[in-house]
Amino acid sequence: MLKDLYFRHLMKRQAGRLAGCGEAAGLGLSRAMRSAAAGAFSAEEHEWIGRIEPIRREMEASSAEVRQPDWGATSCGGVEPGAITRIVGEVCRSASKPKLWAGFLLKLVREFRPGSCLELGTCLGVSACYEGAGLHMNGAGRLVTLEGAPEFAEIARANFQRLGLSNVSVITGPFQKTLGEALDQLGPIDYAFIDGHHQEAPTIEYFRKISARANPGAVLVFDDINWSDGMKRAWRSVASSPGVFYPVNLHTLGVCIYGNP
Ligand SMILES: C[S@@+](CC[C@H](N)C(=O)[O-])C[C@H]1O[C@@H](n2cnc3c(N)ncnc32)[C@H](O)[C@@H]1O
Repeated sequence: MLKDLYFRHLMKRQAGRLAGCGEAAGLGLSRAMRSAAAGAFSAEEHEWIGRIEPIRREMEASSAEVRQPDWGATSCGGVEPGAITRIVGEVCRSASKPKLWAGFLLKLVREFRPGSCLELGTCLGVSACYEGAGLHMNGAGRLVTLEGAPEFAEIARANFQRLGLSNVSVITGPFQKTLGEALDQLGPIDYAFIDGHHQEAPTIEYFRKISARANPGAVLVFDDINWSDGMKRAWRSVASSPGVFYPVNLHTLGVCIYGNP
C-alpha cells in the first residue's frame, strides 16, 4: 500500500516533469503516467480491468503445480536449463505485474496506439491481458509475447482465450531462440515490454535487437531496472543510448521513446 502511494507519487512527479516538453511523445508518456497514477480509466477500460483482475485473483489462489526452467542457473544461451516446480499462486503473486503497473501499460497502449507489440516474459499472461485489452479497445494492433516455460504459456493462452483476446499470441522457448522469430513475425516494432531475463548483458542485447527493428517513436518499457547493480547499469546504458528520448526512471520500470518520433 505504501509502495503504491510512493509509485503513484513518482509517476505524477515524472508526468509533471514531461508536461512542459511540448512534443507529442513526451506528452503521451506524461499523460499515461498521470492517468495511471490517478487511476483515471474510462468506463470501457474499467470494464476490462474488471474482467482481468478476477482471473488474477483466481490464479493467486491456485495451489496447482507448474514447471519452470531454472533460468537463474544458466545464461540460457542455447543450453536447455534444468526445471523447478512452482505453485501457480506463488508465481502469480511474485512475478505478475501488480494492478498499478499493469494499468500503466494499458494506458501506454491506449495513448500511443501501437500496431506491432512485443513482450519478453509472458509468465501467466497478466501484463499481456492488459496490453491486449488496450489494443482491443484501440481497435487495432497485436501483441506477440515470449515465454520460456511451456506450462506458464499454456495458462496464459487459456487466459487470453477466456477474455476473447485473439490479438495476443505466445511463442514458447528461450528468448535467445524466439526473439528473432517474433521480430520477423511482427515487422517494425511500435511497443515492447522487456520483463524477463533481468541481467545486464542480455537486457542490453534485447534492447539492441529490438531498437534495430523499431519504428520511430516506439515505446520501450523495461522492468526491474533497479533490481541489481547489473540492471541499473543496463538501464543507464539504454537511457543514454543514441536515439533514446524521454527516458523515465520509475524505480521499478524504465520507459523511453526510441527514434525521433
Ligand atoms: C517477471 S515474469 C513476467 C511477468 C509478466 N510480464 C506479467 O507481468 O504478467 C518473467 C517471465 O520470463 C520468463 N523468462 C525469464 N528468462 C527467460 C528466457 N531467457 N527465455 C524465456 N523466458 C524467460 C520466466 O519464465 C517468467 O515467466
